Amino acid sequence: MNMEFIPALRGSFNLNDYENAVEHFDWSEVEAKFSWFKTGKINIVHEAIDRHALSTKKDKVALYYKDEYRKEQFTFKEMMEMTNKAGNMFKKFNVLKGDRVFIYTPRSPEMYFCLLGAIKVGAIVGPLFEAFMDAAVYDRLNDSEAKILVTTPELVSRVPLEKLPKLEKIVLVGDEIEETDQIVSFNKHFEEASDELEIEWMDREDGMLLHYTSGSTGKPKGVLHVHNAMIQQYQTAQWVLDLNEDDIYWCTADPGWVTGTVYGVFGPWLNGVTNVVRGGRFNPNDWYQTIEDYSVTVWYSAPTAFRMLMGIGEELTQKFNLKSLRHILSVGEPLNPEVVRWGLRVFNLRIHDTWWMTETGAMMVCNYPCLNIKPGSMGKPIPGIEAAIIDDNGNVLPPNRMGNLALKMGWPSMMRSIWNNPNKYKEYFTHNGWYISGDSAYMDEDGYFWFQGRIDDVINTSGERVGPFEVESKLVEHPAIAEAGVIGIPDPVQGMRIKAFISLREGYTPTSDLEEEIRLFVKEELSAHAVPKKIEFKEKLPKTRSGKIMRRVLKAWELDLPTGDLSTMED
Ligand code: WTA
Repeated sequence: MNMEFIPALRGSFNLNDYENAVEHFDWSEVEAKFSWFKTGKINIVHEAIDRHALSTKKDKVALYYKDEYRKEQFTFKEMMEMTNKAGNMFKKFNVLKGDRVFIYTPRSPEMYFCLLGAIKVGAIVGPLFEAFMDAAVYDRLNDSEAKILVTTPELVSRVPLEKLPKLEKIVLVGDEIEETDQIVSFNKHFEEASDELEIEWMDREDGMLLHYTSGSTGKPKGVLHVHNAMIQQYQTAQWVLDLNEDDIYWCTADPGWVTGTVYGVFGPWLNGVTNVVRGGRFNPNDWYQTIEDYSVTVWYSAPTAFRMLMGIGEELTQKFNLKSLRHILSVGEPLNPEVVRWGLRVFNLRIHDTWWMTETGAMMVCNYPCLNIKPGSMGKPIPGIEAAIIDDNGNVLPPNRMGNLALKMGWPSMMRSIWNNPNKYKEYFTHNGWYISGDSAYMDEDGYFWFQGRIDDVINTSGERVGPFEVESKLVEHPAIAEAGVIGIPDPVQGMRIKAFISLREGYTPTSDLEEEIRLFVKEELSAHAVPKKIEFKEKLPKTRSGKIMRRVLKAWELDLPTGDLSTMED
């Protein structure tokens, strides 16, 4: 058992509140925080933007936007006007309640105007990563029967328009667009549109967001979220992100990924907090510069990014003034204890791991400022959420037993369907009202949850169950190792053997001595049964855009199998 604790901090949600809420909290308590509680009129964008624009917050900066070419800012009032314009533009293109509007552009202010404007007029928005290629774009637009696509002149060539009969309009964001019946210019119609809009009032169970996500098999599935999700998105931004009136918040995720919508748009803005968006690609200098320029106080990012920053070395952090930071969080993949210790060293702050999924629509298991952190643990369930480890028959397991990480169904931001695929949806809920996450984990005797891997990735070697994350985490603590992906490969005697794919840090070369040293390191630091019998060095490891090592691809390489859908792989 890991006995290492990093002591709690004082956040606005203190340990007493937390314990009290775990006992007594009911989600209906949050409803009074929204204007629909009194008016009965519901639209998540009204709560995120217009409500503040119509209050004393109207001149507060809502969005700081920056990329290589642009540096702009918009107040809540300006955001209301811009999203109204976008909404009117979509109305002109005949967007009706429930229609799907897809947005396939790099990050830009216009992307945010369109995303919010479309939801204002009742559409369901599907955000797509700019890095998607033809087949991935086609699958999503086809499955969702999208009516409108907002994209750029550069990206539109990847859209097989002739195969998408349901697509009525392509809105191109760029200069000098030659219009046709189908292809229209964003600049022109946005310019012409009124900045006053009659917002569409919705039912709380109406759809607003459609995120496609890959499963272990088959095509990506469309996870549908509804306006009601705002309840949990708002509340977790307070409890976990610890957002307060004066915070400057930066979420590094692209809206093509659920973190970039739920916590890059809704979490901060439902709370009326100033939000920073840094467009463009990851670059250590730019990232630290962003924190310095905007005096970012709360920063939500991902383990891969932290590991890359860690790999660059600590001198770089000293070139920037990062003193404004007061709270750092992580999501998307296991947060290695080594990264937590790095955070303590260089920022003098704890990095707070949070666990959730596209399907959950908001955070579920988290490290709060008021909790002691056990490095390597995802923390505890948020109040109002019942999480447990269950076996394959739906029985709740006692502490320290590995099993399925499951959630009692019915939380406010839970997905409401898988688009076009009701059977797939049902598969998540086959165990007495438990949602099965597909992750394996255990809960320790203090109620902390420890991620072990995706169910299908767990390695059983000589009857010992080994979580690949445990081994990967240990490997990246070795000074020569930048990243590691660990899989089980079939073995006639042991059931499975462990194989590690490793990319080295700069300045290291792969040798058999180094291989031996690494094995010894794992053996000595973790356990003999966790030692990778086989090691293969690679320049780069296959990763999703959200930074997860794709063990599925490693397995396919290893066993000479087809790699399956690669649309979520980073280029
Ligand atoms: C993994 C991201 C370990 C997990 C918001 C989950 C994590 C999947 C963590 C969902 C974490 C997410 N520690 N693993 N803190 N957070 N995961 O849908 O396997 O892109 O099932 O949502 O990422 O990924 P998704």
